[in-house]
Amino acid sequence: MDLNGLILSHQTLRWIILGFGIATIYRTWRGWIAGRTWESRDTLTMLGFTSALNLQMLMGVMIYLNSPLTRMNLATWSLPTSGAELVFFGWIHPVGMLIGGLSAQAIASVTKRMESSTAKFRLTAIGMTVVMLGILALVPWPGLAHGRSLWPRAL
Ligand code: HEM
Repeated sequence: MDLNGLILSHQTLRWIILGFGIATIYRTWRGWIAGRTWESRDTLTMLGFTSALNLQMLMGVMIYLNSPLTRMNLATWSLPTSGAELVFFGWIHPVGMLIGGLSAQAIASVTKRMESSTAKFRLTAIGMTVVMLGILALVPWPGLAHGRSLWPRAL
């Protein structure tokens, strides 16, 4: 896939992450508050969220290695300190998103080993809500200095 295709997929996948993220957060808060039993559907929803995030991280790294916006950082082995767009895409967005994605993966791995439904719901409800808020804060929404379009469009 070329850079254009990667960026188009990266743009589109954000909506899938948002969908699975909201579903995970809704199911886990509801499960915790209502004292429900953890079901396989809860695991599947969470798996959808973490899988989409893992794929997004992989594509993000591939974009980082190829985009003219960030390739310079690798060539000079330095991070940009000026220019809103360069600073944002050069390190704030990638580093923050990697921390968010890896944290979601860690939460899911710990949850899988827990026995009690209440403990599973509590950890995922709080953990995934924090991860989701972090991710939302790091998306280049239109209107920001480094903002991009809401809908998939070629470069
Ligand atoms: C995991 C959640 C992530 C989400 C939701 C996300 C979302 C986005 C969005 C919406 C864009 C704007 C694309 C456009 O309209 O042009 C973007 C751009 C970008 N992302 Fe991510 N991203 C994530 C993770 C990452 C990671 C982990 C990296 C790198 C390690 C990364 C690197 C980039 C780069 C370099 C661009 C700019 C591409 C360019 O215009 O040249 N992203 N991201």
